[in-house]
Amino acid sequence: MSNTRAVASTYLEWAKLCSPAKYNLATSGIMSYPLAELHVSAQDLEINGPTVYGYAPLQERLARKCGVTPDCVVAAAGTSMANHLAMATLLEPGDDVLIEQPTYGPVLEVASYLQASILRFERRAEQDFQIDPDEIARRITSKTRLICLTNLHNPSGALTSEETLTRIGRIAQNSEVQVLVDEVYLDMVYDQPARSSFHLGSNFVVTNSLTKAYGLSGLRCGWILAQPDLAKRMWRLNDLFAATPVHPGELLSVVALDQLCKINARARALLEANRTALDAFFSGRGDLDSFDSRWGTVSFPRMKNGSVDEFCEFLRARYQTSVVPGRFFEMPDHFRIGIGGDPAMTGEALKRLAAALDDWGSNRS
Ligand SMILES: Cc1ncc(COP(=O)(O)O)c(C=O)c1O
Repeated sequence: MSNTRAVASTYLEWAKLCSPAKYNLATSGIMSYPLAELHVSAQDLEINGPTVYGYAPLQERLARKCGVTPDCVVAAAGTSMANHLAMATLLEPGDDVLIEQPTYGPVLEVASYLQASILRFERRAEQDFQIDPDEIARRITSKTRLICLTNLHNPSGALTSEETLTRIGRIAQNSEVQVLVDEVYLDMVYDQPARSSFHLGSNFVVTNSLTKAYGLSGLRCGWILAQPDLAKRMWRLNDLFAATPVHPGELLSVVALDQLCKINARARALLEANRTALDAFFSGRGDLDSFDSRWGTVSFPRMKNGSVDEFCEFLRARYQTSVVPGRFFEMPDHFRIGIGGDPAMTGEALKRLAAALDDWGSNRS
C-alpha cells in the first residue's frame, strides 16, 4: 500500500463492479436469506422509532447473543462501519497500527484514511496462515495503539485458537495496546462454536455483523463489542458519521435475531454441501497448493504456475466463472475461492474452475 492516504477501496470497487459472474466464487458470504422466510408483515415495521444511542430491543438481543451487557454493544452499519468506527475511535493520526498480512483490504485502507502509520505481522501460507504471537511482540513500538486481525481469517479461512488470542491479548496488555478482532466469519465454526475474543480481556474490541454467516447483508446489522466507557466514546463519534440508523432495518434485525437458529441451520447445511464439493475439487490438484480451511466460506490456494491475474481473466472469459485474484490481498500468486453460494451454482463453478485449470495447464506445457 502506498504512503498516500487511501480515499477509496480498490477491493470493494472491484467486488462491486467487476466480480459478478454467472458462476461466482468471488463472494465471501452465505447466499441471501429470503425476506419471505422471516414471515414479517408490514404491521411489524415502522418508519421512526425510539432509537437514541441504540434501539433497546436490538441492543438487548445483540448483548444476549454475544454474552455481554447492552452497554458493551455499539450498533453499526455492517462490520464495515463497525471497523471504521472502532478504528476511528482508537487511532489518532501518526499512531502505529499493527495489521496482519494478508488481510481484508478495507482494514488497511481505513487505517490509511485515518492517517495511522501501518506496520504488519505476517500470516505465512507455509504455516497455514496461523499467527505467531512472538512476531507481534517484536513488532510493537512505543507508538503502537492497536493490533488488527480477522478471525476467521480473510482470505484463508484460518481459525485462530483461543490460546493464541489470549497470548496476543497479554502481549498487547503489557504495552497498553488494544486488539481489534473482526469476527464477521466466526459464527461459521459450527462443531465447536468459538467464543468471541471479547471475553479474553478488557483490551479486546470485536466487530461483527449478521451479513456473512447468515446471508443477511442487506439488513446492515453490525456491531462493536467494547468496554462500556470505550463504547460510549464510539457512540458519540458515530454522531459525526451515521448519527441515526434506519429504523425499519433495526426492526427487521430484531426479527432476524429471534429466528437466528433457523437461519443458522440453513447456512450450515449449505456450507457443508459446498465444502464436500470444495474438498473434491482440491483432491489431486497438483497445480495448486491448498491450505486447511475447515471453516467458513473462503479458501486461498496458491497457483504453482503462471500469472493468477491472467488466469482469472481466462477463467472469466472462457468459463464465465470468477474468483478473487490474490493481488487484492497482497499475495498475487494466490486466488480466493468463496463457497457461500447456492450449492448447484457452486458445484458447477468448481467444475468449471477445475476445467479451466486443466485447460490453462495444458496450454502452458
Ligand atoms: C473481514 C471482513 N470484514 C468486514 C467485511 C464487511 O462486512 P459487512 O458486509 O458486514 O460490512 C468483510 C466483507 O467481505 C470482511 O471480509
